[in-house]
Amino acid sequence: MVTKGTAAKKAAPRKTAAKAAPRKAAAASARSKAKSEASSGQPGKVGPVRRTFAPWNDPAAKPFILYENITKRFGDFVAVDDLTLGIYEREFFSLLGPSGCGKTTLLRMLAGFETPTEGRILLDGQDISTVPPYRRPVNMMFQSYALFPHMSVADNIAFGLKQDKMPKGEIADRVDEMLKLVKLEPFKTRKPHQLSGGQRQRVALARSIAKRPKVLLLDEPLGALDKKLREQTQFELTDLQQQLGLTFLIVTHDQEEAMTVSDRIAVMNQGNIIQVSTPAEMYEYPNSRYVADFIGDINLIEGTIASVSRGKVTVETADAGKLVVNQDLKADKGQKAWIAIRPEKVRIALKKPAARTDNVMSGEVWDIGYLGDVSTYHVKLPAGSTVKALQTNATRLIERPITWEDQAWLSFSPDGAVVLLS
Ligand SMILES: Nc1ncnc2c1ncn2[C@@H]1O[C@H](COP(=O)(O)OP(=O)(O)O)[C@@H](O)[C@H]1O
Ligand SMILES: [Mg+2]
Repeated sequence: MVTKGTAAKKAAPRKTAAKAAPRKAAAASARSKAKSEASSGQPGKVGPVRRTFAPWNDPAAKPFILYENITKRFGDFVAVDDLTLGIYEREFFSLLGPSGCGKTTLLRMLAGFETPTEGRILLDGQDISTVPPYRRPVNMMFQSYALFPHMSVADNIAFGLKQDKMPKGEIADRVDEMLKLVKLEPFKTRKPHQLSGGQRQRVALARSIAKRPKVLLLDEPLGALDKKLREQTQFELTDLQQQLGLTFLIVTHDQEEAMTVSDRIAVMNQGNIIQVSTPAEMYEYPNSRYVADFIGDINLIEGTIASVSRGKVTVETADAGKLVVNQDLKADKGQKAWIAIRPEKVRIALKKPAARTDNVMSGEVWDIGYLGDVSTYHVKLPAGSTVKALQTNATRLIERPITWEDQAWLSFSPDGAVVLLS
């Protein structure tokens, strides 16, 4: 269980991120596990970082950035639709969503490159609508980096400081500090074309924090890097953010990346926010099929509500009869519903589970994805839907291995699933 109010800030980011596994679900669950262990308060389990950071659970805490009923129209087109969102100081906040859902537009309005059609944006309690972009304590790092090709690394970093007419000596000191921060000291005199993609990305990062903004906006900052480098850069970003105590607002379309780096994530669709929560909460308690599907891998079993009582929902399904989930839910009998269950929470066996086991289903093994450390079994249920069960290949098998066309038994605990109504 994720205990509200005690989610630890970036419990051992290195350890978690190092696990950014080839499979999305595994990476997400590794992270959510680290987070929930952290929040259960068991010392020593997730590394030395035990700082509690969850201002969003503190009714007295005021957001540092507040989008208040923001609508942005381009002609007739609504890019952002009456959106309200608060982000806290020192938070690492991610906007996640498909292309065109309004993420960049949100950043650009905060940076001052676009004006909201309706609503207002508060920064540290002040309405910033009349503050010009260059006077906002906000800097934006673009996806393309936009480095000056004819300037050295040091000059690129110094550019904004020179424009601000900072004294020369101070500029030199600041540039050195930034080079050290992003570990580019040996490359000071090189031009961008003499650098690798990852190094160029770090120059852009150094340039965007050289003026010490309070808020750094990053629009798909790692999009141009290959997977391995992206994972490495994710730690660097989280480290940097913590060292400098900045507020980061980052746009990404990569759910794994959002899970790895963020304190909280907003999942967006068509100019709206569908859910805002910590990575672990979003993974364990998605509020809709849209979010469940967006974050990690999940089984959705369709049915209708059979009964609802305190803390318990029963769903009638064509595939597996009545299934039970422990959850407080407001719903009507007969209402359409989906049981959402992660593959790693579905047990699979050749033998029928004990009679009192909850939520038992049976079907034929249709496909097996072998990934070395884990296997995913795709099991076809009688009414036609397929349920995936993920099993770690941790022990030598005593039983014979489960294989194609086997009749297999699936089961899951009422605590492992959620019932979704949309
Ligand atoms: N200057 C503009 N004029 C017209 N439409 C725009 C403009 N900027 C963005 N849009 C539209 O608004 C929507 C949201 O864009 P954007 O915020 O860039 O999406 P995202 O960053 O999530 O991919 C898109 O459909 C885009 O085409
Ligand atoms: Mg964009």
